[in-house]
This record gives sequence, structure tokens and C-alpha cells, in this order.
Amino acid sequence: MGRTVPYQPSLLRLLHGITAILVPLAWLSGLVVLANHDRRWFRLPLAVPGEWIDIHGTFGALLWPVALLFVLYAISIGRGRLRQPANAAALIGLLLAVSSGKLMQEDWLRTGQLDHLAYHLHLLAWMLITGAVVWHLGSVLRRGGIRFAASMAQLHVRENDGPRHWGAQLLKRH
Ligand code: HEM
Ligand code: HEM
Repeated sequence: MGRTVPYQPSLLRLLHGITAILVPLAWLSGLVVLANHDRRWFRLPLAVPGEWIDIHGTFGALLWPVALLFVLYAISIGRGRLRQPANAAALIGLLLAVSSGKLMQEDWLRTGQLDHLAYHLHLLAWMLITGAVVWHLGSVLRRGGIRFAASMAQLHVRENDGPRHWGAQLLKRH
């Protein structure tokens, strides 16, 4: 591999990496919450014991500040990459899932309140982010294969791209 793996800026890898770990965790824990508390749509055979609303709320609470920073990064320094429609879709999906999640109250589902607008928006956002991330991954793999995908998970940081350089990178308009 070595030299042919494209270099991704460390700030992007940090924000994107944390997001790409927490979104699947929120997705899965959300699925369990759905299976445990809302049986209107489809009957999932997996009622998993545990405080899954709290678990999901914890992933969500960790995700939203990082997602906010990532969105700010993507629309400023990373704006050029948003010309790829699948990148923009992933970003919009993330924004919708996180902002509708912030509108949720944790005891709605416990008390059987399944008709709040925010909840419907959150479920819609969940479906949208699913489609958007599948598209995003497909687009990344189609454009650059596994090497391009793996470039986001590289740990190597160039000398002129450490945390000390993030400020200057943010100030420089791209
Ligand atoms: C799980 C949720 C994910 C979200 C919400 C997401 C979102 C995004 C966004 C918004 C960008 C554009 C960043 C910018 O404008 O600077 C991006 C770029 C990228 N992502 Fe993801 N991503 C996710 C998962 C992944 C995964 C799992 C991989 C593969 C390991 C990946 C690989 C990449 C690559 C290679 C780019 C650069 C694309 C380019 O230069 O056009 N992403 N991602
Ligand atoms: C990728 C998918 C999802 C993401 C990114 C996501 C994200 C979030 C976020 C950021 C919060 C706010 C946490 C906070 O700061 O308090 C939240 C709350 C919540 N979400 Fe999700 N969510 C997703 C899917 C789902 C699904 C499928 C359900 C199923 C019903 C669900 C149910 C809830 C509930 C009940 C809350 C309130 C929990 C609390 O405040 O403690 N989420 N979500």
C-alpha cells in the first residue's frame, strides 16, 4: 500500500472517524429501541433486555457535539468534497438524525407516546442516513476502492498537519 494511499487531513480523519464509529452504534442501539418500544411498523423478533434508551441516548449525546464540529468542518474547509453528491447526502443525513434526536425526549417511548412529530422525524432521518451512508460508501469504493476508503482510517500524521496546525487550516479559506 504505502505511497499510493491518499493522505487525508488529520482534523478530517479525527472528526470523520469518531462520527463513523458513533453513527453505527447509534443506528444499532436505535434499532433495539425500536424493537423494544415501537411494534407498529414491523415485529422484530429481538426484544433485547437492557436500558437501551439510555444506551442510545449516551451514544447520541457523544455524537452530537462531534457531528456539529464535523458539519462545520465539512461546510468550510471540506466544502470542495461536498460537490460529490454522496458526500453531501451523508452530511445531510447526519444533520437530520442528530437534530431530530436532540428534539426527542427520553421518556416518550417508555410511556407509549409514539405520535410526536419529533419522533416521526427521527425515524425518517434514521432511514435517510441509512440510505445516504450506503450511497456514500458505494461512491467512495467506486471512486477509489478499498485504498481510498482505508485512507480515512490511516493513523499516520504528517509533520505539518498536527493539532497545532488546525487553527491555521481553519483560518485559510479553501
Ligand atoms: C458512518 C457515517 C459516515 C458519515 C456521516 C460520513 C460522512 C462523510 C462526509 C460528510 C464526507 C465529506 C467530508 C468533507 O466535506 O470534508 C466524507 C468523506 C469521506 N468519507 Fe465518510 N462518512 C461516513 C462513513 C464513512 C466510512 C465508514 C468510510 C470508509 C472507511 C468513509 C470514507 C470516506 C472517504 C474516503 C471520504 C473522502 C471522500 C472524498 O474525498 O470525496 N466514510 N464522509
Ligand atoms: C443513525 C441513526 C440514529 C442517530 C444518529 C440518532 C441520534 C440521536 C441523538 C443525537 C439523540 C440525542 C441524544 C441527546 O443528546 O440527548 C437521540 C435521541 C434519541 N433517539 Fe436516536 N438516533 C438514531 C436512530 C434512532 C432510532 C432508530 C430510534 C428508535 C426509536 C431512536 C430513538 C431515540 C430516542 C428514544 C432518543 C431520546 C433518548 C434520550 O434523550 O436519552 N434513535 N438520537
